[in-house]
Amino acid sequence: MFAKDLIYLNNHDLVLENNSKINEIREGIKDGQVYIFKNVLPKEKIALIKNYLTQVGQNSLPNYKKIEAGCPNFHRINIWDARSYVLCCFHQFTFFPWNQDIFSMFNLFKKAYELRNLVNGNPREKFLGIEPEDGCIGRLSFQFYPSGAGGMNKHLDPVDHHQLAVPMMMMTKKGIDFNKGGAFVEKENGQRLIIDDFTDYGDIVYFNAQIPHGVDKIDPDSELNWLSFKGRWIVIFAVNKLFNNANIKDAVDLEKEEVF
Ligand SMILES: [Fe+2]
Repeated sequence: MFAKDLIYLNNHDLVLENNSKINEIREGIKDGQVYIFKNVLPKEKIALIKNYLTQVGQNSLPNYKKIEAGCPNFHRINIWDARSYVLCCFHQFTFFPWNQDIFSMFNLFKKAYELRNLVNGNPREKFLGIEPEDGCIGRLSFQFYPSGAGGMNKHLDPVDHHQLAVPMMMMTKKGIDFNKGGAFVEKENGQRLIIDDFTDYGDIVYFNAQIPHGVDKIDPDSELNWLSFKGRWIVIFAVNKLFNNANIKDAVDLEKEEVF
C-alpha cells in the first residue's frame, strides 16, 4: 500500500463499462498505485467554473457549515484552523446533490462520481441521491490554494465502506498557474511524489486514501492575496460522513503535534 509509479489512462468514460478494468484499477490502488485519467473535462469549461467561483469568493462572506442533510451550498476560508482534523490553508466551495446550482454540478460530474463508486466497490449511483445513504453524502469540494500560503498537512483519509480512493480533478497546471508545490503522496522510502508535476487541466487522479499525502505549499515565495485567486485549483469528488456519524473514522493529520 505504498505509492508506486503513475499510470495514465485515457477514455475515462469507457472504463465505466469495463468491469475487469475497474477491478484491476481497484487492486492497483489497494497496492499503492496512482492512476491519472487524462483530460476528463475541457479546459474551457474549467475556466468558466473557476471564473464563477472566483466571483462568488470575491463578493460574498465565507462561512463554515457542518455537513448534514439539507445543508446549503457554501464557501469558506480555512487558514490553518486548529479546529480542523487536518490543518490546511485554502478557500473551499462546497456543493451538495440536493441543491440545484447553475452548472448542474452533479450532472456535469455524474460519470466521474459513478466511476469513483465503482472503483471503490460501491453501486454506481450511491451517495448521489437527494438523501444521505448509510450516514454519508456526496459532496463536491472545490479547493483553491492561494500562491504564497496555500497548503495542507500530510494526512491519512479514512478508508471504509464509502471509499478506498478520493479522486480529485486538476483545474490548474503547474508552471502556468503556479510554480512551486502541489499535491504529494509519500513513497515507501519517504520521498514525495508531487502529483501536480505530472498533470494537466481536467485530469482526474486516484490514489489510496491511506497513503500519507498532502499539499506542499504553493509558491511559498509569493506574496499572498486572497482576492487575486492566483494559485492552485482542484475539485474533489468527496463522499463524506454526516457530522454526527461516529461509525467512520476521522482523517488523521500526521504533522499536528498532539499526534506524536
Ligand atoms: Fe486527503
